[in-house]
Amino acid sequence: MCGIVGYIGNQDSKEILLKGLEKLEYRGYDSAGIAVVNEAGVQVFKEKGRIADLRAIVDEKVLANTGIGHTRWATHGIPSQENAHPHQSNSGRYTLVHNGVIENYEQMKREFLQGVELKSETDTEVIVQMIDQFAKELSTEEAFRKTLQQLKGSYALALVDNEDKSTIYVAKNKSPLLVGLGEAFNVVASDAMAMIQITDQYVELMDKEMVMVTKDGVTIKNLKGEKIERAPYTAELDASDIEKGTYPHYMLKEIDEQPLVLRKIIQKYQNDQGELAIDGEILDAMNSADRIYIIAAGTSYHAGLVGKQYIEKVAKVPVEVHISSEFVYNTPLLSEKPLFIFISQSGETADSRAVLVSVKEMGHPALTITNVPGSTLSREADYTLLLHAGPEIAVASTKAYTAQVAVLAILAEVTAIAKGRELEFNLVQELGIVANAMETLCDSKETFEDISRSFLSTTRNAFFIGRSIDYYVGLEGALKLKEISYIQAEGFAGGELKHGTIALIEDGTPIIALATQEGVNLSIRGNVKEVVARGANPCIISMKGLDQDGDTFVLPEVHEMLSPLVSVIPLQLISYYAALHRDCDVDKPRNLAKSVTVE
Ligand code: F6R
Repeated sequence: MCGIVGYIGNQDSKEILLKGLEKLEYRGYDSAGIAVVNEAGVQVFKEKGRIADLRAIVDEKVLANTGIGHTRWATHGIPSQENAHPHQSNSGRYTLVHNGVIENYEQMKREFLQGVELKSETDTEVIVQMIDQFAKELSTEEAFRKTLQQLKGSYALALVDNEDKSTIYVAKNKSPLLVGLGEAFNVVASDAMAMIQITDQYVELMDKEMVMVTKDGVTIKNLKGEKIERAPYTAELDASDIEKGTYPHYMLKEIDEQPLVLRKIIQKYQNDQGELAIDGEILDAMNSADRIYIIAAGTSYHAGLVGKQYIEKVAKVPVEVHISSEFVYNTPLLSEKPLFIFISQSGETADSRAVLVSVKEMGHPALTITNVPGSTLSREADYTLLLHAGPEIAVASTKAYTAQVAVLAILAEVTAIAKGRELEFNLVQELGIVANAMETLCDSKETFEDISRSFLSTTRNAFFIGRSIDYYVGLEGALKLKEISYIQAEGFAGGELKHGTIALIEDGTPIIALATQEGVNLSIRGNVKEVVARGANPCIISMKGLDQDGDTFVLPEVHEMLSPLVSVIPLQLISYYAALHRDCDVDKPRNLAKSVTVE
């Protein structure tokens, strides 16, 4: 949520900053700005809207070798030009960009900024004004440190000083921030993706650290002013992974990548003997737990619901799945030997991190399943399993969901084998069948475009129903549809509609029903009949072998436990086309951001 970039070197910084911000636009896109520093001083360009709107107002003629930039997802204050970053102190000396939320900013205002006139409604402006006040008696580094010592909350900060153009000051607490190293230049970025075009060498920053970045070096210090040495790492990101290529949208590209991602996961989780394998320490943790608590948000929560089925049915360990934002306030009675599993594409979701922090305080073990190596949740948990899905850029999650489900299936299977249980199917083989089925579905885009047009083109709302594991996929289908097409969509357990929601069914209301499970095939079809009798327009997506005349689409047959990996693809594609037909911004839906780093 909010993206930060910075550049200091010998080249003109404007284009590097703008290109970096374009790569970070997935983190927030309601306003953006850059500040560039040259001999003439600091020039700030900021605008409400997208990076393209910012680009349009940046003065091409201004050349500067140092600069910082920001793309915003509003937390304090509406999206507006005034509230856009960078923010400047009243003297004009300091210019700052910030990602995060300062919890005690009202108190800071009262304590340190009496008589200082604030120009915006943001917590960020409070930080920059404090630095300016403290710098009346201290060096910039000291004033920055003194400010950081007062702040409570989350921040990733980049600061420039008009009186010393040789340094960008950065700091981090709970919000992600990296420093990238180059030849005669250095960069700052919320995500390596922003600067991967110019460097693959990055230094990770830990919470409550500050860094002085010059064009020739970086100095990391803690908040006591003590120096910290840290070696850089190579970011394993292929620049082409983050390009759209010939696709009109990242979402479509990422949907199409799913068979490939699944094959990569099978390969990454196999040992030399071709058997599925997982780090022994993780298996020990799985096997010593008397109950597993899965913690996640949004799409990752939906993957967790499927994962619960796998772990309980295959590995025979009881599992609870919790929405991360509720867990801290509504903590259930914990078992004696719990294991926490955090599922997060980004590895940065603040709600999940808050739970991880309290779990670690309680002394319980934690495993993170994430797509981003080195992310906060990965670093702070005891163990990590990677999704290997490659960067997911569209805000609506697709390939990360299927990767999460696949990794959870592997985790369940390998845990069961480690417990000495005989399994009735060969997961590697079954996942291979799933990858082929995914390919067939991705090749049927025209069919899903037609289905989307006939069921969703004019509707105000839509319902997804399913029973058993299909219910969880229905929840995910509804989330996909609503977040990108703005059609009001809800997922329900098939049997639950008649307990209230059936009152909303009118002539033509689309009902998307999943029928991939033999044990509930007849009952879900019974639920479809109930809504059809009230005028609903049914779109039935069934699995080969369970299909009946009149079904809208029949999925290729896969093992029924793994059906979520295939049944979700039509729902992703139907949502994609619904958004496209309604002229919505598919990759960047309104009000959303990809990486939700505020609670
Ligand atoms: C929906 C979507 C979100 C995320 C949620 C958690 O398409 O992407 O619901 O799943 O914000 O994000 P992560 O998985 O990064 O923790």
